[in-house]
Amino acid sequence: MSDNYAIGISTKEDDHEEESKKKPSIQGFWFPYQEHFEAQPNDIFVCSFPKTGTTWLKALAFAISTRNQVGLKPSPLLTNMPHECVPFLEFDPVHHDKRDPDQLPLFATHIPYDSLPKSIIESAGCKIIYICRDPKDTFVSLWYFLTKLTDTEVCFEKEFDLFCQGKSGFGPFWDHVLGFWKASLESPERILFLKYEDMKKDHNLFYVRRLAEFMNQPFTKEEEDKQLPKKIMDLCSFGNLSSLEVNKNEKYFAEFGIKNSAFFRKGEIGDWKNHLTKEMAETIDRISEEKLGTCGLKF
Ligand code: A3P
Repeated sequence: MSDNYAIGISTKEDDHEEESKKKPSIQGFWFPYQEHFEAQPNDIFVCSFPKTGTTWLKALAFAISTRNQVGLKPSPLLTNMPHECVPFLEFDPVHHDKRDPDQLPLFATHIPYDSLPKSIIESAGCKIIYICRDPKDTFVSLWYFLTKLTDTEVCFEKEFDLFCQGKSGFGPFWDHVLGFWKASLESPERILFLKYEDMKKDHNLFYVRRLAEFMNQPFTKEEEDKQLPKKIMDLCSFGNLSSLEVNKNEKYFAEFGIKNSAFFRKGEIGDWKNHLTKEMAETIDRISEEKLGTCGLKF
């Protein structure tokens, strides 16, 4: 098994077929997963398709959740990568059956909505925060990441075709987004649906405050007076996180041989314009329109 499979990403079409014979395929998706995860009513899950802003959203959710515990001490985000602070259900050992009492009830996953552990979907209390991103930028980001992960020049055109056909880890992209979008319309109090682009353009801190409210930890007047929302936004900004030693040179996912810096590339909107041909961009836009247009979701 190649390393790619260990995190549910394949770059070869044939491998997808081989892999699907070996791994459970649930609702048409295949991936390694925590079958028996038992969600608790106060759990919060950061959910996303890979390369849509998971690392950023983990950092924000973690900084919001721990602002009272950390107090005057420096944030753990200054010395730990966001992925270390918020474990993935599918990659990290999450001891859900005998939880450490100090375990923050904050987890992350790339698992599609319909395939989430039942206890998450059925729990009345726990909450989901989903981030999505323009699939054109998502694809470009994914391609760069795969190149680093496999340490080879992944064929851009072939990977593009696979992405459009829905053959990506945790994919298809559009089904992933649609699953969470529909669920968020049905249960807006339980599922917060965010867009990377909106958050990037947010100059008045709307989304930091929205996240805190949704997580039942709204900023108090005193915290507002101390400009905590801005401090959290700045702490989690691409510029700040990507310049930290831990995120430049350390390897949290050492078994995949990938440096933390691979999760911080450009952090911009519209970098696809530097990589996709006009035809490629039109192809992705057409699929988005076909799959998501009638649901009122636009990028
Ligand atoms: P680019 O490759 O376009 O730069 P994920 O965290 O889901 O793996 O997504 C990675 C993408 O999010 C990368 O996009 C990365 O640069 C960007 N990113 C990482 N940290 C960010 C931050 N703090 N703010 C905005 N974007 C960030």
